[in-house]
Amino acid sequence: MKVLGIETSCDETGVALISDRDGLLAHRLYSQTDLHAVYGGVVPELASRDHVRRLLPLVRAVLDEGGVHGRELDAIAYTGGPGLLGALLTGAAVARSLAWGWEIPALPVHHLEGHLLAPMLEGEFEFPFLVLLVSGGHTQLIHARALGDYELLGESIDDAAGEAFDKTAKLLGLGYPGGPALARLATDGRAGALELPRPMLDRPGLDMSFSGLKTAVLTAVRKGGHAPADVARAFEAAVSETLVEKTRRALKQSHAPALVVAGGVAANATLRAGLERMARERGVPVHFPRAEFCTDNGAMIALAGLRRLQAGCASRAVDADGGPVIQARARWPLAELAG
Ligand SMILES: Nc1ncnc2c1ncn2[C@@H]1O[C@H](COP(=O)(O)OP(=O)(O)OP(=O)(O)O)[C@@H](O)[C@H]1O
Ligand SMILES: [Mg+2]
Repeated sequence: MKVLGIETSCDETGVALISDRDGLLAHRLYSQTDLHAVYGGVVPELASRDHVRRLLPLVRAVLDEGGVHGRELDAIAYTGGPGLLGALLTGAAVARSLAWGWEIPALPVHHLEGHLLAPMLEGEFEFPFLVLLVSGGHTQLIHARALGDYELLGESIDDAAGEAFDKTAKLLGLGYPGGPALARLATDGRAGALELPRPMLDRPGLDMSFSGLKTAVLTAVRKGGHAPADVARAFEAAVSETLVEKTRRALKQSHAPALVVAGGVAANATLRAGLERMARERGVPVHFPRAEFCTDNGAMIALAGLRRLQAGCASRAVDADGGPVIQARARWPLAELAG
């Protein structure tokens, strides 16, 4: 079984080819970071236009490298949501049209299901597990019982962790996207030089909040007297310790036998080390994606598509004229996948 995966939910154009027998056969990623950097954030219209430019050459390159013709595919999986609507529609249009032409099924994949399955690209493991999903748009603790059966246990009530990294990096005058730049700066910072709050740790429940932390950084920066590297280190420590403690509580509450960490912030070395330590203490195995598959990519969408195809959920939807149905959902709660 071979599935092509297409990811276009935000500012990365990702295409990958996966086989149930041989794993990942080829993958390509085009990042639009440089295009958006001058604006300090993603410009949706520019993102959509660039996906249009990049997609077909990437599809061709991936199929060539995998030595597969489109008609030999079993399905095309594409990110159906959530994300920027225009960006999603470019991927949906290309995927649905190619699938229609090659007479194969097309599968809309939930972007967050892609993220949380990404560690399985490194090796098989079983459901159930607890997921800490920490990306640019989401910070969630999810009890994953089976494919498509996801219970949201807690989430950030304001900024996502990645968003907080990016906004704090901006305050410190670092470029966009700021998460990796802030993490690099933090390695030069001194531990304990500045103390920042651990938001919502004094409250029960698994919800989190990161916008106050950004304000605390702003106050410290305005007051002056702190080296930027010390501020970066204090911020990273506060976010990591908060996430580790909430994840520890979620493991206890859910009795999940394993932990999966996914999304762009899962690439953060301090967070990884903290989560690994906590999981070791609890005797729970922890699975991370490889660094390049933490952020958006086509491989995770191809994998999620393959799993869904194996579970028997493909669609061949055509409209009244027999043409492909092009649909995408900007908002799509993970819990709606059930049933
Ligand atoms: N080493 C790192 N340390 C901290 N944050 C990081 C690191 N690497 C990436 N990030 C952050 O990860 C985020 C991007 O991750 P990802 O691509 O998963 O998010 P997204 O796709 O924009 O959001 P979503 O998947 O929720 O729609 C950015 O906010 C970026 O700053
Ligand atoms: Mg993402």
